[in-house]
Amino acid sequence: MFWKSLLRKKPLEALIHNKSNSIHLKQTLGAMDLIFLGVGAIVGTGIFILPGTIAALYSGPAIVLSFVIAAVVCALAALCYSEFASSVPVAGSAYTYGYVIFGEFIAWLLGWALLLEYGLAVASVASGWSSYFKTLLSGFHIHIPDAISGAFNPEAGTYVNIPAIAIVAIIAYLLTRGIRESTRVNAFMVILKISVILLFILVGVFYVKPDNWEPFMPFGFSGVLNGAALVFFAYLGFDAVSSAAEEVKNPQKNMPIGIIGSLLVCTVLYIAVSIVLTGIVSYQDLNVADPVAFALQVINQNWIAGIVSLGAVVGMITVILVMLYGGTRLIYAMGRDGLLPKSMAKIDEKTNTPIKSTWTYAIVIMFFAGVVPLNRLAELVNMGTLFAFMMVSIGIIFLRRNKSIASGGFKTPLYPVLPIVSFLMCLFLITRLSVETWIACGIWFLLGLILYFAFGRRNSTLNK
Ligand code: ALA
Repeated sequence: MFWKSLLRKKPLEALIHNKSNSIHLKQTLGAMDLIFLGVGAIVGTGIFILPGTIAALYSGPAIVLSFVIAAVVCALAALCYSEFASSVPVAGSAYTYGYVIFGEFIAWLLGWALLLEYGLAVASVASGWSSYFKTLLSGFHIHIPDAISGAFNPEAGTYVNIPAIAIVAIIAYLLTRGIRESTRVNAFMVILKISVILLFILVGVFYVKPDNWEPFMPFGFSGVLNGAALVFFAYLGFDAVSSAAEEVKNPQKNMPIGIIGSLLVCTVLYIAVSIVLTGIVSYQDLNVADPVAFALQVINQNWIAGIVSLGAVVGMITVILVMLYGGTRLIYAMGRDGLLPKSMAKIDEKTNTPIKSTWTYAIVIMFFAGVVPLNRLAELVNMGTLFAFMMVSIGIIFLRRNKSIASGGFKTPLYPVLPIVSFLMCLFLITRLSVETWIACGIWFLLGLILYFAFGRRNSTLNK
């Protein structure tokens, strides 16, 4: 009985029928919309900050290899996500896939891991946003005191990051007002983001000094691998595309194009930026909070630095928006399934949004964004996400064996080798994360287990 309850699965039929009585979504998105959505969710801190700090501390100019390795891992996972998104086209991403394939217990762990991913990704992007916002304001001679614009680090004279807290609060407020992420606004911001990145590349390339690429691997190949486990963060968000599944026309065809296409666009941009960045400035000088703008200042392109900072400030907002949105909808889904308190699934009648779950989530995130340093946050996000990727990859094998799920859509190539390799690569990257991250993550999952056994298992709607 006990084991049976852990393995109880959601029938796919029920989920698909459920669609009509949950939030009703129209199927309007095509492949191009999905690519924009994906790039909107993906390009953020990862490109505007990580290439600097990680080159300085872990990979050196070989950061470009770190980006390539992380891209390969993501591409394999993306193929597996595509197959799931085309066979199980319902909202909820990995959490829902887990519920259909592995049963409630693993679904809960996946949901719990995703809450960590989305929540800390928002916190971490908010703290990166704050750095660029500060630089931007200083261009207008407005200076925010250090003490209130950095995570808790008394040695460096910083105590709390007020701009980071504020941006999360503003976006949470917008979400509770029932803002529909209009694809048009998103597309505008994406174009702006990509334009400033291209501007950086086109200007920067003229200032590259090949000497800066020597030594190429100052921390050895092991540094490159550690760097890969960290820059992995830069690619997160493509899985968020899969949460739009219910709104996509012809998901069997468009979902894979959207997921893989957005990943491809980002990979090309990231590789180009890291080559140019480490070519302009020695990697040793890049451990700053806003490396892309910093590099432009070094070459006296202050105007361009201002424009890039503006683009970064606007561009990072879409990442916060999409990830916060994803997280609140996940809490909503878990509440609806009875694994979290039912009040989390309460929809406000006037605005048609889950206000309670939005604020509960946002307040926890504001705490992290306000006091925990960025690099620690990014590592934890990676851990949660790599776990989700691992389960989705290996899940493909169970998906194909499950005869009750019709499979007319996209198929992961090289089955079963590719899902297994994807699983192993994610596992490998997890081993490259620091011990502190393992411990912090262990505590998070322990909390999750306690919550499940004390609450979710008993209150699950599948009990009835
Ligand atoms: N990929 C997202 C970013 O880099 C999380 O900001």
